[in-house]
Amino acid sequence: MRDDMIIRRERPEDFAAIAALHDDAFERVEGAARSVESSLVDELRGDGDVIDELTFVAELDGAVVGHVMCSAATMGERPSVGLGPIGVTPALQQQGIGAALMASVIASADQRGDVAIVLLGDPGYYAHFGFVPAGDLGIGSPGPWDPAQFQVKTLRAWRPEQAGPFRYAPAYERLEA
Ligand SMILES: CC(C)(COP(=O)(O)OP(=O)(O)OC[C@H]1O[C@@H](n2cnc3c(N)ncnc32)[C@H](O)[C@@H]1OP(=O)(O)O)[C@@H](O)C(=O)NCCC(=O)NCCS
Repeated sequence: MRDDMIIRRERPEDFAAIAALHDDAFERVEGAARSVESSLVDELRGDGDVIDELTFVAELDGAVVGHVMCSAATMGERPSVGLGPIGVTPALQQQGIGAALMASVIASADQRGDVAIVLLGDPGYYAHFGFVPAGDLGIGSPGPWDPAQFQVKTLRAWRPEQAGPFRYAPAYERLEA
């Protein structure tokens, strides 16, 4: 990771830069002004479902170059953590910025006493951080996704009996509708 980079909590003055970042980092449906991920960020904020302690920007020379958001989810009857989206400015990918954001989320969630972090994504990337297919631990997927992409990282507070059906915050369910 670059030693001139700062990982910190997001602030309202970052919101426009964060939206632009997710519009650049993710593919957009042809003709769409915004990426689905950038809209998801706004919807999660609008619903009050963002977990502020687990939502970070990477800042380089005063500019936002990476962002990760976590939101309130449920596993069985208990509160849980859904991670996403995560994005890095295209020109600065493959330099460890995504890894630094992931490390911040994992360390902070562990410290808060969260039991697990759940996400949808490329297993080849998230395996670096100890994510495994969530179905292998008995965690039920909320959607018809490739089981390899529905992943979990369990934390120190995890107990196997906590496994149950996982549900993202409602903004995710609106995306699928
Ligand atoms: C996915 C994403 C967030 C990862 O962020 P990133 O900063 O590019 O990722 P990192 O640099 O941390 O890691 C990328 C790769 O570089 C490697 N890497 C890590 N540190 C590195 C360094 N200092 N120098 C070179 N490579 C490094 C990692 O091992 C990883 O290897 P892999 O190819 O085996 O996966 C970013 O690429 C992105 O925004 N992609 C588009 C949006 C997206 O797809 N988001 C995720 C949806 S699931």
